[in-house]
Amino acid sequence: MSEAKLYPVPAEVADYALLNREQYERMYRRSLEEPESFWAEQAEEFLTWFRKWDRVSNNDLSKGQIRWFEGGKLNVSYNCLDRHLEQNGERAALIWEGDEPDQSKTISYRELHAEVCRCANVLKERGVRKGDRVCVYMPMIPEAVVAMLACTRIGAVHSVVFGGFSPSALRDRIQDSDCQVVITSDEGVRGGRTVPLKENVEKALAECPNVHTVLTVRRTGKDVTWVDSRDVWYHEAIQSASAECEPEQMDAEDPLFILYTSGSTGKPKGVLHTTGGYLLQTAMTFKYVFDYHDGEIYWCTADVGWVTGHSYIVYGPLANGATSLVFEGVPTYPDAGRFWQVVDKHKVNIFYTAPTAIRALMGQGEEPVKQYSRQSLRILGTVGEPINPEAWEWYYRVVGDERCRIVDTWWQTETGAIMISALPGAIDLKPGSATLPFFGVEPQLVDNDGNVLEGATDGNLCLTRAWPSMMRTIYGDHERFMNTYLTHYTGKYFTGDGARRDADGYYWITGRVDDVLNISGHRMGTAEVESALVLHDKVAEAAVVGFPHDVKGQGIYCYVTLVKGAEPSEELKKELVDLVRKEIGAIAKPDVIQWAPGLPKTRSGKIMRRILRKVATNELDNLGDTSTLADPSVVDELIENRANR
Ligand code: WT7
Repeated sequence: MSEAKLYPVPAEVADYALLNREQYERMYRRSLEEPESFWAEQAEEFLTWFRKWDRVSNNDLSKGQIRWFEGGKLNVSYNCLDRHLEQNGERAALIWEGDEPDQSKTISYRELHAEVCRCANVLKERGVRKGDRVCVYMPMIPEAVVAMLACTRIGAVHSVVFGGFSPSALRDRIQDSDCQVVITSDEGVRGGRTVPLKENVEKALAECPNVHTVLTVRRTGKDVTWVDSRDVWYHEAIQSASAECEPEQMDAEDPLFILYTSGSTGKPKGVLHTTGGYLLQTAMTFKYVFDYHDGEIYWCTADVGWVTGHSYIVYGPLANGATSLVFEGVPTYPDAGRFWQVVDKHKVNIFYTAPTAIRALMGQGEEPVKQYSRQSLRILGTVGEPINPEAWEWYYRVVGDERCRIVDTWWQTETGAIMISALPGAIDLKPGSATLPFFGVEPQLVDNDGNVLEGATDGNLCLTRAWPSMMRTIYGDHERFMNTYLTHYTGKYFTGDGARRDADGYYWITGRVDDVLNISGHRMGTAEVESALVLHDKVAEAAVVGFPHDVKGQGIYCYVTLVKGAEPSEELKKELVDLVRKEIGAIAKPDVIQWAPGLPKTRSGKIMRRILRKVATNELDNLGDTSTLADPSVVDELIENRANR
């Protein structure tokens, strides 16, 4: 490995930033050496508590017990809204930029507070109580943020489902956490096209008898199916609701939200986050990683349906009293300059996006970027997948004019907040490296047998100690939580990622080491796609693997075995692609389908994915040991018919 290029922190950046290298090191050391007092101080500094906690932490990873600030009482919406009213009530909490460039609006903290209280009162009127689960299936409109905060105001647990998910995926999620209320909108609008959200809800609810209320925001005015006893228009209900609503006093360990994410096996997991630790660490990472200075405009391009949207569009920014831009559209509509047009329009200072978006825009050349000044930009962030150095350099040079610091932030739905990232004024950058751990995070690399690896090396990435925003369990399935994260290497959290640590202690995430794919920064389980494929009555068996894709990072490669008598055809391929779209959503759309009369299996019937991955990536010279295969000849047949040469 040749030495990576280094971008040292310029002196003027270190001076301006909240933290310089020395401060980072001092705080980092303290966070590990005196965690109790460190976290207690942070919790005092970042959050407003109704009652102080009895105990800072009470963790035992080997038992899957994670508790922070037990006995402490607080309310998330109070921390994100009420406490900013006195000093900054008229400051913009949200800037909404619509799909069309002529649509935008600004919502002050005072306005957002009133709207959240109204929505909370509507939920209460419909019988929602502390601990009840509420599903939020929304486009990127301010009401999505309102809905989330309204839940937190009354102690309801939100489960946001990405608006790109299909009715079946929505149904599964509603059922799994027994949501009895759904908040949605008539339609979503993205890239000039509409998404039939309310109709999707209608389809999902055919199998969700417990849902008694659907609250629908009018976005486009489209006619939608209506069930009087169940359906409520948001704009009507809000109008008559009071703009005052006492915040529920929640325990730090009360559930805050459930967010479904894909694993290597089975159905998506309902990752459960709780109140105090989550809010603390999202607030703190937001401030330090993005070096947020009071009054700055911040824009994260994620969707609230993903954890990035939860932590870094809603909770982290609002807990800090920041202005958070909510964008309804896509990077390339009406044209490839949209991001930079929005940056200039709203004078965005901090911009956070995904490598896949950067690569897609890179493909359109520099012209659309250079049309705009981007002078307001100071910090550029990336998240979701490893960023290749070419894309990093382009982001730095073309978008940032070599003036902006880049923060490559590694974290997961499960971690709740950023775990490994540069800090703008403290850490020298190397393109492609997430750099160094955040406070309280102790990464460790281990081999497959669990031996701890020291120094510069490759390994499986673990985190050795619990952190405040760590997930607490998988909703309804603590055993799965243990088995997925905590039993691989007893006493440690296993991330599912591989990483390299270089001689400077920098981390380079190399990607998933399990059967989870990363498609345009979105997580997808191979098992989910396989389950969708085998629903087709002509499919006997399917095996799905990832392969490198220029823009998406990874593409979806499906090996499909047909039932006896079924004939492969282009038409059948199309049917299968449509089936996966219908079952999961467009993000799971297969890129390649290869007919496979046989799959490589061991004598005990286990599919050898290693071989399938190699064939899909066209790495045929090192297939590895194939002697344990029940029928080694299937491999030749797969190679012969590979779709990727
Ligand atoms: C997986 C988590 C939490 C952010 C959105 C994705 C990959 C995430 C990076 C990064 C390399 C990254 C990992 C991780 N990932 N950020 N900066 N560099 N890889 O959340 O859907 O829970 O996916 O995304 O593989 O395990 P997620």
